[in-house]
Amino acid sequence: MDVIKINGGKALAGSVTTSGAKNAALPLLFSTLLAEGEHIFENVPSLKDIDSTELLLHHLNCTTSRQGSDLKVIVKRPESLVAPYDIVRKMRASILCLGPLLARYGEAKVSLPGGCAIGSRPINLHIEPLQQLGANIEIENGYVIAEAKKLRGDRIVFDFATVGGTENIMMAATLCRGTTVLENVAKEPEIVDLARYLRSMGARIEGEGSSVITIEGVDELRPSTHRVIPDRIEAGTLLIAGAITGGDVKVKNCVAADLDSLIQKLVDCGFSIETGSDWVRVRPCDQWIAVDVDTAPHPGFPTDLQAQFMALMTQASGTSVVTERIFENRFMHVQELARMGANITPKSQVAVVRGERGGLSGAPVMATDLRASACLILAGLATEGETIVNRIYHLDRGYEHLEEKLRSLGARIERRAA
Ligand code: EPZ
Repeated sequence: MDVIKINGGKALAGSVTTSGAKNAALPLLFSTLLAEGEHIFENVPSLKDIDSTELLLHHLNCTTSRQGSDLKVIVKRPESLVAPYDIVRKMRASILCLGPLLARYGEAKVSLPGGCAIGSRPINLHIEPLQQLGANIEIENGYVIAEAKKLRGDRIVFDFATVGGTENIMMAATLCRGTTVLENVAKEPEIVDLARYLRSMGARIEGEGSSVITIEGVDELRPSTHRVIPDRIEAGTLLIAGAITGGDVKVKNCVAADLDSLIQKLVDCGFSIETGSDWVRVRPCDQWIAVDVDTAPHPGFPTDLQAQFMALMTQASGTSVVTERIFENRFMHVQELARMGANITPKSQVAVVRGERGGLSGAPVMATDLRASACLILAGLATEGETIVNRIYHLDRGYEHLEEKLRSLGARIERRAA
């Protein structure tokens, strides 16, 4: 298993370009199941989660081919409508094949995704709306077994603005008979990107990015082409890398408006932020002050940047109260930061971070999940001495060549076989 070795304490400087968004590319790839034929996507990142998605699409009789960051998906009628456990367990987002398969072919058997390190990850907000649209769904032997002669539109109000639930139901509703109104939906940029692609396939959708999405079902969709939006979480991670090292970093190919909540927090800390049409720049700040942060659905502060921001708060002046309101177990990076000398008191959904500039020392640490991996790398960059981050297979699920991007900014970082 590879490790990442960092000799930190050096300010990063220069510009770096983000890759396509993992959390946009995954639903986009599953949406191809709604229309047989040739779909072409640009700006698709090379990630383990994309590989897992391609594996499942191959199992469903699709073929994929990649040229650089362009990915072609040729969809044919599946011989089997089963998404098996040994594929789904590798990536929970595989549940996003349920809505498209059910809507297009009237049946689907998808392994329950199960939980992961950050939470139990239930899928009730995927299942119940599909039942409301007329699907018969049984849960048996660890599988979701769904069938529906023809889904029919309805008004659905989500208990919680679930990202995956919104995506699954939005895709299913495109082929419903009649109109579906989805309320209290997720408003993430990745939802907007998916809606744009579905519309280019011939779907009749409006309201994406707001709390209410209205979809008028059509008889069939056709394959199209699409460019995946930039990864705002990678962009935020790179901005925090600049901030935490006292550096001057310009992140290109990113949408400032998608990062409003992080940018505001960085400004509140005392950093100066400059933005352009497709870039954001963070400049050094001698001593930044601690600020509180509560994660929330978009446009609130993204839970996927909570761990990275916590690393920044370990170096701030004062005390930061970090509240994780989206997942029930997303503080596993805390004990690893503590191994580096951070003063953090976790209490259920709240972690109290008592910051001190220079309060960390390099140490061997262990990544526990995707964003915790990034957090530990950021902490290592900010710290004199050597930090070794183990189990970085977590990192490779969601960041494309992160260590190379950081090295291009002057970081002393390398990947090594353990
Ligand atoms: C998506 O996960 C992202 N993954 C996650 O990114 C992200 O953290 C999350 O949205 C929140 O923004 C992808 O897009 C592939 P949710 P998803 O449904 O769809 C509860 C990363 O690091 N819930 O919005 O699974 C759930 O338990 C990953 O890139 C139910 O109770 O998130 C959680 O507490 C991690 N029932 C909360 O809602 C359901 O049926 C948010 O879940 C569904 C969700």
